[in-house]
Amino acid sequence: MAFRARHLLGIEHLAPLEITTVLDLADRYVEMSRRTVKQSDVLAGMTQINMFFESSTRTQASFELAGKRLGADVMNMSMQSSSVKKGETLIDTAMTLNAMHPDLLVVRHPSSGAVNLLASKVNCAVLNAGDGRHEHPTQALLDALTIRRAKGRIQRLTVAICGDIAHSRVARSNLILLNKMENRIRLIAPPTLMPAGVDAFGCELFDDMREGLKGCDVVMMLRLQKERMDGGFIPSEREYYHRYGLDAEKLSHAAEDAIVMHPGPMNRGVEIDGDLADDINRSVIQDQVEMGVAVRMACMDLLARNLRAERGRRIVGTMV
Ligand code: NCD
Repeated sequence: MAFRARHLLGIEHLAPLEITTVLDLADRYVEMSRRTVKQSDVLAGMTQINMFFESSTRTQASFELAGKRLGADVMNMSMQSSSVKKGETLIDTAMTLNAMHPDLLVVRHPSSGAVNLLASKVNCAVLNAGDGRHEHPTQALLDALTIRRAKGRIQRLTVAICGDIAHSRVARSNLILLNKMENRIRLIAPPTLMPAGVDAFGCELFDDMREGLKGCDVVMMLRLQKERMDGGFIPSEREYYHRYGLDAEKLSHAAEDAIVMHPGPMNRGVEIDGDLADDINRSVIQDQVEMGVAVRMACMDLLARNLRAERGRRIVGTMV
């Protein structure tokens, strides 16, 4: 099988063929999710635990739905009120959960690297649902599927990623994925929100939005991640919208058939004009939500296959 990963911790670890394998399987799960009866038994008998140490609406809901549509027993743990500190606390939590024999662990954590640390301590497959400003692999995969379905391909496109690049795991995972699939990437942000050294990823940098959008096929907007800012990164939201908020006029600089994306949650009138976000001729934001469920089904299906194979090998190993 083309997908060999044990965990899904980041796009960084995936080969282009593995990415294509996820997208192809997800296409099939889109069809299944559109049926009246959406149930399958791919994960029947398996236990999925969702641990979100940071708030989430669509990611948590779609991981839960994805698991249920595949027949897993899904448990949501509310981690918000518990200690969100790294180190011993996280490892203790991991060990406690491990003792309950989950098969799939879906984890979101505010610290970059925390999910990798946790994955090293458990016997099940771990899916990163976003760790700090590091990676958000299922978001990049669902964005790729959305783009592939809208544009007919996920190669040789010019993609603009705009806004708060510095604090965004969505931008980072997308940058890595789009690079692996040989696209042309432009990052558009005010200098305060452009991370130093990011051009090493092989992308073009712009602080003028109209300039950066010229001829783009895909315009990916990002939320201002205020929870990760500890100072004045922008003069005011009004000024930010004026220079970096996407509206019809700025979009007119992109290709005529450019699509508009946003991972959500959106701040209307800050990152994007509300009417444009709702314009079904340009915006694929609702498609992104739909693709999110299908991509997560595909990822969990593929990881579960690898887990079964690994456990099977271990049992055979003890018999000989
Ligand atoms: C993103 C996240 O949590 O990183 N949202 C999401 O998963 N849908 C982006 C964001 O919060 O701005």
